[in-house]
Amino acid sequence: MRTIIFTGKGGVGKTSIAAATAVKAASMGFKTLVISTDPAHSLGDSFDLELGASPVKISENLFGQEVSVYGDLTLNWEVVRAHFAHLMEVQGIKGIYVEEMGVLPGMEELFSLSYIKRYNQSKEYDLLVVDCAPTGETLRLLSLPETFGWMLKMIRTLEKYVVKPVIRPLSKKIGRLQELVPETEVYDQIEHLFSSVEGIIALLSDGAQTTVRLVMNPEKMVIKESMRALTYLNLYGITVDQVIINRVFIDEIDGQYMDEWKSIQHNYIEQIERSFAPIPITKVPLFRREVLGLEMLKKVGEVVYGNKNPLDIFYHEEHTAITKISDGHYIMKVRLPFAFDNKMETNVLQLGDSLTLRIGNYQKGVILPLFLAGMRVAEAIYEDQWLKIDFRKKEAT
Ligand SMILES: Nc1ncnc2c1ncn2[C@@H]1O[C@H](COP(=O)(O)OP(=O)(O)O)[C@@H](O)[C@H]1O
Ligand SMILES: [Mg+2]
Repeated sequence: MRTIIFTGKGGVGKTSIAAATAVKAASMGFKTLVISTDPAHSLGDSFDLELGASPVKISENLFGQEVSVYGDLTLNWEVVRAHFAHLMEVQGIKGIYVEEMGVLPGMEELFSLSYIKRYNQSKEYDLLVVDCAPTGETLRLLSLPETFGWMLKMIRTLEKYVVKPVIRPLSKKIGRLQELVPETEVYDQIEHLFSSVEGIIALLSDGAQTTVRLVMNPEKMVIKESMRALTYLNLYGITVDQVIINRVFIDEIDGQYMDEWKSIQHNYIEQIERSFAPIPITKVPLFRREVLGLEMLKKVGEVVYGNKNPLDIFYHEEHTAITKISDGHYIMKVRLPFAFDNKMETNVLQLGDSLTLRIGNYQKGVILPLFLAGMRVAEAIYEDQWLKIDFRKKEAT
């Protein structure tokens, strides 16, 4: 199944372009599902109809869904929620907050990812279009499986070696302890959710299946956020195969007032072209009215794709490469565009066979191929958008 993820700053037109892409693909005969993972859903509004927590048929070949943690019946949130609410109560935290705390932070994003995996496994659709939350949350979403993968291992190990054999029997005797130890079902539910996103990074970073399309407007802050997003997406090995500049003023819009705006936009469009090349860039004009309903979405789909197939992969490039220089000397290159421009701090930390690359606040763990694991990082230089990490054989001591 092909998966296309749309992201960008809030309000740039992600939902409109995602919906238009789905309409276009469906009209070409591809069975398409468009899902919104932004808790502030507006996908339904875009189609001008009510969508729910499971796929609703919109038209021939076209289905839509607004993902909701609460709409899923295979997950018993109440058990998890009640446990954490209880924990807070034990800590002396009371009141509305405990009751209102629906889910733990990060859970909604994690849950969205589990849907991407589910649909990829079910093979029910030819295309899955994901209308994501604004860039920041999307990036958080992508970094979650790594964090949670580690947490899941911890939780499993703890439950198996500590909680089950030691604490649970003890807690039967010590009342206070019993209050803190979760029921096995709490573990089961957390485990259920975590394992539902295992392997998701492999799926998302398979550039032959999944690509991200960045939607932006020709505005300073928007461009900056998108550049940062591209760096992080690269870091996670995720392919960005198209940049869409939305709300471009066209020549028909005139008058001195607008001319100034047009020239401002012109400069930013040039900046986008310089910065994001060679990723293909598509311009979408500011329409006369809001993008609402099937007819309008069809029009937008035509503007974005013309006679191209939206399922095609418009651009693909390698993110990491390893080159042997000589015996005991390798260079690993990781492409991180803009990291330098944005003056984000770059750090490389090696621990056994794992390498942690840190840029700004984000970090990525890389498991090294065996032949590199026994070597040490001698140097890391950032050059021409590539982080070049120099591996040397450890000297015998
Ligand atoms: N090219 C465009 N011309 C006119 N209106 C647009 C265009 N793109 C988006 N819109 C409108 O702008 C608003 C925000 O778009 P939306 O797709 O919901 O953005 P996002 O999902 O990024 O928050 C919507 O009302 C939408 O109809
Ligand atoms: Mg939206």
